[in-house]
Amino acid sequence: MEKIRLGYIGCGFMAQKVHIPNFMSVPDCELIGLAEVRSELGKTVQTRFGIPRLYRDHAELAQNVEIEAVAVSADFALQGEIAKDLLSAGKHVFMEKPMAVSTEQAEAIVEASQKSGKKLMVGYMKRYDAGNEIVKERVAQFRETGELGRLTYARNHGFGGDWVCNLDTPMDSTDEPRPSAPVRTPEWIPEPYRGSYLGYLQQYTHNINLMRWFLDAGDKVTIKAVDLDANGYTGVVIFDMDGIRVTLETGHVSHYRWDEHSQIYFENGWVHTWAPPLLLKNTPAEVEIYRAGDEQEITRPIPRPSWTWAYRREAEYFVANVRNDEPFRSSAEDTLTDVRLFEDIYRIFIEQQG
Ligand SMILES: NC(=O)c1ccc[n+]([C@@H]2O[C@H](COP(=O)([O-])OP(=O)(O)OC[C@H]3O[C@@H](n4cnc5c(N)ncnc54)[C@H](O)[C@@H]3O)[C@@H](O)[C@H]2O)c1
Repeated sequence: MEKIRLGYIGCGFMAQKVHIPNFMSVPDCELIGLAEVRSELGKTVQTRFGIPRLYRDHAELAQNVEIEAVAVSADFALQGEIAKDLLSAGKHVFMEKPMAVSTEQAEAIVEASQKSGKKLMVGYMKRYDAGNEIVKERVAQFRETGELGRLTYARNHGFGGDWVCNLDTPMDSTDEPRPSAPVRTPEWIPEPYRGSYLGYLQQYTHNINLMRWFLDAGDKVTIKAVDLDANGYTGVVIFDMDGIRVTLETGHVSHYRWDEHSQIYFENGWVHTWAPPLLLKNTPAEVEIYRAGDEQEITRPIPRPSWTWAYRREAEYFVANVRNDEPFRSSAEDTLTDVRLFEDIYRIFIEQQG
């Protein structure tokens, strides 16, 4: 296969620490262009990584017809606008989450992808974690065979912690100001709630997206109850995900590791998984399977190969799948549901605030 010729937009934190090194390490990918509006930073990063060409911004990079696919990481609302422009310019796109901060913005991005026939993958790296792949497989198997009884309940707990884990990949910075980002939050959200809406969405979009995937729920998801503190962040939301009650527990804890786990209950057992701190390289989610009955047992399946990093696997997946006709595992169309659910949650929350 001819290598995928990739361009990268934005060389801030996620680009330097995670995505540029990962894409450069995928054998079938060649990073041939970088765009950064902070020109001094762009030059420094281009030189350090030895990237052949540097562009002023994403629009200039998009003019290079040799570039077939582009990866983007920028501000929450800005990166969706950049992705939309690149799709319209005929590029396949990998972008960081969140895809969009309103359903209206999300629909415009999906429309740009459908019109141009180019694919968009959203960086929900948890769907590419090798431990989470085991969870997904086993839950599907237990539902199909009925060997643990009926699936009764699922929960996700995400209190955060230290996600950077002392990752010592080099990071260049300059004192050039960051570009301003467009305000794209839904108009119906009153000004005082916009900051907390964005904070809640950008953190927990991962968790909702993961639970929908574990349960194969697609767009069949509704909100049953919302109980959040006045900060619009700490609390519990109850979902109906294709007939299954799912709770999402959200909040903060000061923790040197990362306090996030998911548990899927059957009548006679469970599948439980603990997420690794995000930037802890080469550490997949841990998985525990409990089977009740006469001979009770707990097993802890270990993915093979054993030491993998979700972010590196998502880069490999993008390169391997960008040219085929199948939708990505974390496609733009599928992500529409996550964006819709945050508006649904906040509609209820704001109404409760009176
Ligand atoms: N998947 C995860 O676990 C995870 C973790 C952290 C952050 N993120 C997401 O990553 C995104 C990026 O975060 P970050 O901390 O790397 O941001 P950042 O601000 O450090 O970097 C963004 C860069 O993009 C540049 N830029 C903006 N517009 C541009 C344009 N039109 N052309 C070229 N360059 C442009 C900016 O100058 C900046 O250098 C955020 O949206 C965040 O939600 C995801």
